[in-house]
This record gives sequence, C-alpha cells and structure tokens, in this order.
Amino acid sequence: MLDHLKANNRAWSERKTQVDPDFFTRLENQQAPQYLWIGCSDSRVPANEIVGLDPGELFVHRNVANLAPPQDANYLSVLQYSVDVLKVRHIMVVGHYGCGGVAAAVDGQRRGLIDHWLHPIREVHAHHRGELEAIENDRARWDRLVELNVIRQVKNVASDIFVQDAWARGQALSVHGWVYSLSNGIANDLNVTVRKIDDVPEVLGDF
Ligand code: CO
Repeated sequence: MLDHLKANNRAWSERKTQVDPDFFTRLENQQAPQYLWIGCSDSRVPANEIVGLDPGELFVHRNVANLAPPQDANYLSVLQYSVDVLKVRHIMVVGHYGCGGVAAAVDGQRRGLIDHWLHPIREVHAHHRGELEAIENDRARWDRLVELNVIRQVKNVASDIFVQDAWARGQALSVHGWVYSLSNGIANDLNVTVRKIDDVPEVLGDF
C-alpha cells in the first residue's frame, strides 16, 4: 500500500542526509522556526515549498480558507505555542486566489458542516458588500474577497490576547497578510503588516 510514497520518503531522507549528515539529528533535538504560516489546506499551496524553507524553519497551521477564528481551539493552540514557546518573529496569513473555500462561502449552496466553518467569510462579504458588488467581473470579485478574508484574519491574529500580550512584553512579532497566485506561484504581500498594538486600528481599522 502506498509503496510509491514510501519509496519517495526513503529517497528524500537519503538526499537530505547526503547533503547534511547531521540534518535529522539536529532537528530531533530542537525546532526553532522563526515563522508561523496560517494557510489554506488546498493541495496546490504547499507552505514550505513556496517560501523555500526546510523542515524546522516554518511552523504551519492549515485549514479550509486559511481562517483564524478566535474560538477555534486548534488554531489558538498553534498560535499560543508559536508565540509563547517558539517565539516566532513573523506570522503570515496566506490566502490564495481561486480559493474554493472562499467561493463556497458565498455561492448559496448547502454542503453541511463546512457552511458553518466558512461563516466568517460570509461576514467579511457582508461587511464589504458595497465594494464587492461594485466589481462587475466575477473572478475579480472572488479575488477581492480572498484578499479581504486574509486581511480580516490578520486582524483576528493581531487582536488576539496571546499576540497583544507578546507585544506588551516587548517581544518582536509581526503579522503579515499575503495572497498566493496559483497561476504563477508568486505570493504577494497585501501590505497590511502589523508590528505593534497601535498598528491594529491604524492598518486594520476598516476591516
Ligand atoms: Co483555498
């Protein structure tokens, strides 16, 4: 069963060890990533690969439509561990154009549990209805909702108590919003970076 994956795994391990014999020993003893990636589960958006980082360099949390819901224990556990224990320097919320989760949130179809998971995106949609309805092209409107959702999740992360307490302690921590393009493999910075408590209303006030 899954023999090709097992073979790939053995070959990968061998390649890593050939280049750097201590690679796995070092990782086994400690992980010290500087970055937390909050991204979509979409198979076309592989976190480490996109930013060229090795195992040990990127802490990753992925879910459908890259949400950071303030009541989700899974996300909150990842966030707290990253901020309080690993002391990451940067948190990137990374959405992607063509996100099926974002589209499904607002297409009016019923799918079950996922409709509840995607509820925050319907709130983003309602909050920015005027801007979104003014966009005539369907694809452009979808892309903008993807961006607005990322910005809203950046606001969630930056408003979180764990993050705000870290800033109050003087910990260096930035929260970024990016959107990845499936068509060219480029992740664009939405320039909504938050570096301190005061940035939150200034950068994200309208979101
Ligand atoms: Co997606």
